[in-house]
Amino acid sequence: MKKLRIVDILKSEREISIGDKLTVMGWVRTKRGSKNVAFIALNDGSTINNIQIVVDVQSFDENLLNKIYTGTSLSIEGELIESLGSGQQVEIQANNIKLLGEANPDEYPIQAKKHTLEFLRDHAHLRFRTSTFSAITRIRHAMIFAIHKFFNDKGFVNIHTPIITGSDAEGAGEMFRVTTLDVNNLPLTEDKKVDFSQDFFGKETNLTVSGQLEAELAALAMGQVYTFGPTFRAENSNTSRHLAEFWMIEPEVAFYEIDENMDLAEDMLKYVIKYALDNCADDLAFLSKRLIDEEKSKPEKDRAPMELIEKLKFVLENDFIRADYTEAIEILRNSKPNKKKKFQFVIDKWGIDLQSEHERYLVEKHFKKPVILTNYPKDIKAFYMKQNDDGKTVRAMDILFPGIGEIVGGSQREEDYTKLRNRMKEMNVPEQEMWWYLETRKFGTVPHSGYGLGFERLMLFITGMGNIRDVIPFPRAPKLAEF
Ligand code: 4AD
Ligand code: MG
Repeated sequence: MKKLRIVDILKSEREISIGDKLTVMGWVRTKRGSKNVAFIALNDGSTINNIQIVVDVQSFDENLLNKIYTGTSLSIEGELIESLGSGQQVEIQANNIKLLGEANPDEYPIQAKKHTLEFLRDHAHLRFRTSTFSAITRIRHAMIFAIHKFFNDKGFVNIHTPIITGSDAEGAGEMFRVTTLDVNNLPLTEDKKVDFSQDFFGKETNLTVSGQLEAELAALAMGQVYTFGPTFRAENSNTSRHLAEFWMIEPEVAFYEIDENMDLAEDMLKYVIKYALDNCADDLAFLSKRLIDEEKSKPEKDRAPMELIEKLKFVLENDFIRADYTEAIEILRNSKPNKKKKFQFVIDKWGIDLQSEHERYLVEKHFKKPVILTNYPKDIKAFYMKQNDDGKTVRAMDILFPGIGEIVGGSQREEDYTKLRNRMKEMNVPEQEMWWYLETRKFGTVPHSGYGLGFERLMLFITGMGNIRDVIPFPRAPKLAEF
């Protein structure tokens, strides 16, 4: 008998016809019914939609039926029939029911009712079984695929950059140490420092914060490359937008100036948004409805101005605003929330770093569109960014999105050997450890640019979820490494 997934049973061009026999397997979402007939909503993760199983109660062992609850796993043999009810076109009349695994309703945590996201975070091992998380998980897959497709179709080469490194790419010192030394009995040097020459790699190593530096090495020969890997940051920020382990997409392109870098980033973001609209319609519709319900419980003034799908289309159809950091500071300085001291961090002078409250003001209140900010003060950006002739700013670009703030961070890179070396000295970036990075500027250097897209920040935007811990299967954050 043909074994089919629910998505293939529910699609309009299915392989089998009404009256055909088939097998379907999945987990029970709900069971309801009367003395004579029971209806089981079954889901197998292939789609947000359930298939309805119609059970003629009299023809089955009562004991078996009494063991079927939310969460129970079943294998059903039956006949495809046209549905009498509204909501679905077809259903399955059960001929044979095999109980694969019980789920005692007194113990199974995921019941057929609304659970809070916090509760589900504590049950991350089972939250894939909810509609919300299965939708997010399918969209996450689609976005990974779309990103690879975007770069592949443009002729980019994917590079695996190392996860264990000896360098701090962002120079922010927020790294997780990797060691095989016995932490209870550390070998010491003569001047009583830890002797890392005895460690596994014979030197200090960490988990990477970015694949950029190695991607640059590849770009300066391959032309256009990208990495898509896990990155790790030990910043102690317990926010709804930070993870200690997140995934980053980092293209790096030789012969690119900053404007071309902006074009690439804008094209990529629009491409993946369109891909989601075209390929994840059912899941997006579900998440959109979920958000609308959630918004209803908020006071009118706090509600989102657009529903999810409308928001995705809006970003797709509008050019991103491109503005200078200096212009942004002027806008923020003269803004109402700044004058009324509504910002947590008041904007009082040129040179300060923007917080997410400022980024969101620019996007949501002032420009009302995604914004690409450029030419930031050099002192708040990393050592590798190309220095402008004014001596004060660098050719950085951050892309700011509604509801998120910074979603992309990138720059044109400093390709001049002397300027780069001087900047590294000024910022105490250890030159001896980065000799290989400097050599690319010594031999056949060219202008080049790249950026990093935080994959989970993108997922927040596409799904409309409010907390980054809900768009990655197993979040890692301060004091959180369960599962
Ligand atoms: O702005 P960042 O730090 O840039 C870099 O790492 C560069 N090396 C990228 C490059 O030019 N190749 O990080 C890039 C993006 C941010 O814009 C944000 O979307 C995301 O990574 N990000 C985080 N996402 C989740 N949790 C965190 N703790 C994040 N830190 C950065
Ligand atoms: Mg950044």
